[in-house]
Amino acid sequence: GEHSYKYRMLEGLVVPPYVTPARLNLSRTIATQPADVCHCSFPKSGSTWLANILYLVLHDGHEPGQGAPLRSHLHWMESAWTYPRTREQVDALPSPRIFKSHMPHHMALAGGPRQSPCRFIYIARNPKDVCVSYYHFESGSAWSGGYDGTWEHWLRLFMDGRVQRGDWLDHVLSWWEVRGEENMLFLRYEDLKRDFRGQLARIAAHVGVQLSPKAVDRVVAASSFSHMRAAPFSNHKHIADFQGFFRKGEVGSWRDRFTVAQTDAFDRLYTERMADSGLTFTFE
Ligand code: PPS
Repeated sequence: GEHSYKYRMLEGLVVPPYVTPARLNLSRTIATQPADVCHCSFPKSGSTWLANILYLVLHDGHEPGQGAPLRSHLHWMESAWTYPRTREQVDALPSPRIFKSHMPHHMALAGGPRQSPCRFIYIARNPKDVCVSYYHFESGSAWSGGYDGTWEHWLRLFMDGRVQRGDWLDHVLSWWEVRGEENMLFLRYEDLKRDFRGQLARIAAHVGVQLSPKAVDRVVAASSFSHMRAAPFSNHKHIADFQGFFRKGEVGSWRDRFTVAQTDAFDRLYTERMADSGLTFTFE
């Protein structure tokens, strides 16, 4: 088609150019401790939200007054742009470490929950909102995908598994399969929207932290969409000044983009692939 979209093929998976073979190898083979937290997701599924929550949970609900932004506290191992770059640097990071990844389970950070002792958290979001959020993000970020085609073509790429990180269904279902592991927690974006405090309790328990009621209130306040979008700590302004990381933060914004015919086609594919999984999502 008449569009450009930057990507690299890695072991049959479409990834961003900054996911290099060397970084994927490092990401897969780091040595982790039980106190470390690895949060994983398909892009645009609430990764930044979860990262902020994890940072706050591990710091008694306090943002740092000044200094390094959120991004520098999460170690995005597969990205060639980010620190740490070597195994020695990974080993030297202070505990507890927070790692981030967008890889499917067969390329998981540290080999995934069956191979590493650290705490894993996967966050999933309904795929229609993911697809729309991703379209806005890739259209706005020349440094990532730099997508300049139509929405219609984007939806085709997404449904065919040809966007960066591949097929949403493969990704989410691959992590859903390991949800029962003792060091694994599977979250949904829509549950965080609906029942933030309930999900926060699950997250804190999973990483072994007991928060006081006051600390819980601090996490709630500092994790709201409006706070995160404004706060220098979390707003990612040093990475992107467009609204790609904090666009709407709602459930159901797919309705602004999907036509009736597109919804039908998407629902057919989704129903067929999700049917036996037991995993469901809220779309409104
Ligand atoms: S990335 O680039 O893959 O790391 O993006 P990611 O952070 O996973 O997802 C971005 C979407 O998450 C929304 N967001 C939030 N929603 C609710 N509450 C809070 N605090 C919050 N923070 C980020 C963000 O707005 C993106 O979704 P859309 O639908 O585009 O608004």
